[in-house]
Amino acid sequence: MKLKNKTIWITGASSGIGEALVKLLAQEEVNLIISARRASELERVKSENERKAKIEILPLDLEKCEELKAKADHALKLFGQIDILINNGGVSQRSMAMDSQLEIDRKIMDINFLGTITLTKAVVALMLERGNGMVATVTSVTGKFGTPWRSSYAASKHALHGFFDSMRAELEDKGVKFTLLALGFIGTKLSQVALKGDGSPNGTVDETHKKGISPDVCARKILKAIQKEKREVYIGKEAYAVYVKRFFPGIFARLIKTAKVR
Ligand SMILES: NC(=O)c1ccc[n+]([C@@H]2O[C@H](COP(=O)([O-])OP(=O)(O)OC[C@H]3O[C@@H](n4cnc5c(N)ncnc54)[C@H](OP(=O)(O)O)[C@@H]3O)[C@@H](O)[C@H]2O)c1
Repeated sequence: MKLKNKTIWITGASSGIGEALVKLLAQEEVNLIISARRASELERVKSENERKAKIEILPLDLEKCEELKAKADHALKLFGQIDILINNGGVSQRSMAMDSQLEIDRKIMDINFLGTITLTKAVVALMLERGNGMVATVTSVTGKFGTPWRSSYAASKHALHGFFDSMRAELEDKGVKFTLLALGFIGTKLSQVALKGDGSPNGTVDETHKKGISPDVCARKILKAIQKEKREVYIGKEAYAVYVKRFFPGIFARLIKTAKVR
């Protein structure tokens, strides 16, 4: 897929992997719409990446599903079309399942799953009118297997795989492509803002993330997968575990109990 003159909407663009994607795509002749909750951080990302791309900011909160259709209508007006939606915004978890309050389980599902699919449905309706488009969704290897400390996060990412596999089966022949990007540990601050069982932020960056691949490398791999129109891609050092789970489920079940996930 050629990127030139495409309009690409990136959620979660105020930090981490989303910001790295903006940095990478800013070097191309594309239109970028960048979204997250913090407008001031989006302004910073925009001002630090004034290169070839035209960038517009569109703040939104994925937890507020009822506002997302209007956001998609607004996004359409910015450049007249949306060719690629990159669903990257999300929140992680640092709590054992039994210690996580129901409202926090729900919040994680609302942001990562329901917000993402609500926004996607509004955008895909526009793509179907033109008969083409792509939706690339950032999930996690925990969308392929569960680990301790991530019960609702893993559930939300598994849900994205199920939803988008179904949506792909329904719409691929109508011109809309779906890419799922399941990531291992990436060197961002995701763990710092991850939610504890009572909803407070975890507060520190985990060692596992410090040792993860860089957001820039991750962004390059994501873009490559999008351009090659891959259906599902695993990125990061932990990707091998997807195959261990698939081919040696008993061994996997024993090892994951004590795997270093923080
Ligand atoms: N880092 C990893 O190791 C890793 C591994 C697997 C998957 N991932 C996935 O990668 C994606 C990006 O994470 P990251 O590592 O780059 O972490 P990050 O730096 O914390 O980025 C998360 C982004 O999501 C946005 N966001 C959070 N809550 C939101 C909400 N309610 N509405 C709209 N936007 C919201 C944040 O912006 P605001 O706070 O401004 O809203 C931020 O831009 C996430 O989906 C995450 O699950 C990351």
